[in-house]
Amino acid sequence: MDKAAIERAKEHFGKLLEVQMNRMVQVKAMPDWIDYSKIKPIKVGILAGDGIGPFIAKESKRVLEHMLKEEVKAGKVEIRDIDGLTIENRAAQCVAIPADVLAEIKKYHVTLKGPTTTPRKGDPWPNIESCNVALRKELDLFANVRPVRIPALGIDWMFFRENTEGAYILGSRGINVTDDLAFDFCVATSQGSERIIRLAFEHAQKNGIDKVTVVTKANVIKASDGKFLAIAQKVAKDYPGIKWDDWFIDIMTAKLLDEARRKEFRVMVLPNLYGDIITDEAAQIQGGVGTAGSANIGTRYAMFEAIHGSAPRMVDEGRAQYADPSSLIKAAAMLLNHIGYTEKSIALDQALDICGQFERRVVITGRTNGATGEQFAEYLMETLQDPELAKRWSSYQG
Ligand code: IPM
Ligand code: MG
Repeated sequence: MDKAAIERAKEHFGKLLEVQMNRMVQVKAMPDWIDYSKIKPIKVGILAGDGIGPFIAKESKRVLEHMLKEEVKAGKVEIRDIDGLTIENRAAQCVAIPADVLAEIKKYHVTLKGPTTTPRKGDPWPNIESCNVALRKELDLFANVRPVRIPALGIDWMFFRENTEGAYILGSRGINVTDDLAFDFCVATSQGSERIIRLAFEHAQKNGIDKVTVVTKANVIKASDGKFLAIAQKVAKDYPGIKWDDWFIDIMTAKLLDEARRKEFRVMVLPNLYGDIITDEAAQIQGGVGTAGSANIGTRYAMFEAIHGSAPRMVDEGRAQYADPSSLIKAAAMLLNHIGYTEKSIALDQALDICGQFERRVVITGRTNGATGEQFAEYLMETLQDPELAKRWSSYQG
């Protein structure tokens, strides 16, 4: 037995424990929710990302500027680009987020972020940590909120994915104990579980939804998922008006395809990795990962992004301008809602539904036989001008 390897691993594990214990202290001392109604100007940063990122970010920024024209003019909102979060820059410095870029990001209240390349072993880039994951950790964006709605099929899902713990938090800090033995870690804290589960219940309560579904694999992953489920049991007691049920992730994944059953699910809350996987599945049911937006929310900062990756293949094949910006524009709608512009957010969502699902006068295919992202954004902004937008949207319902 390689005793030295075991000692090295123990030492590494010891350090991880110290960091996690310290993090727990911070989670316990989490600041109160920021009140955007008291902030002027609200600073919105645009992080273009890489691959198709700059293409879809450009269109999303245009749409956001269009929506906030008056507010920007009145000095209530500021929208600016934040440069430097590119794979080239990250790889050159061999860091997930260059320090100067992180310092800049922290000057903004909210960011809209295009997809960023996440290298893995064997890629041409150094195997650095995902900058999404790093940003979520650095800004303590503990809630990954991902809506999927398909009115025609009666589907209205809101996923609350835990975003700072689980299998992700030490995803880059696992141990290769020997050449043959690899260890990763999955982390759950009581406080970390409670804050995401509570947010899901609060969302249900505020929106008159009478059910929350908790998804784990607590029958097998007994410590961390066991804790998540136990905390859910406890939190649920504070919401007697809301029913809750618990499902295992494998059967839940199947049930999203069960046409009779899936409409019953409304608010789902789940640990990080399960949330990652199931939201891609849900987005695919909605029409593809290009149609889904995602909010990463903490009490102090928030970051809004597409749920898909940077699609380097599209760039290599010269098709980047045909990439669908809907996902990031949907994220922009979530951003508007988050900073208090609820009506604008609803209008943008309705216009996205009309253009992307109902009317489809301009259709994106991701290829040269479809429209460009720019053409789609034009169509969307033209649709947004319609004073009868809400009526037009309603005419397509049921
Ligand atoms: C997502 C993405 C990221 C994740 C990747 C890019 C690290 O898949 O936002 O769902 O796994 O969280
Ligand atoms: Mg994902």
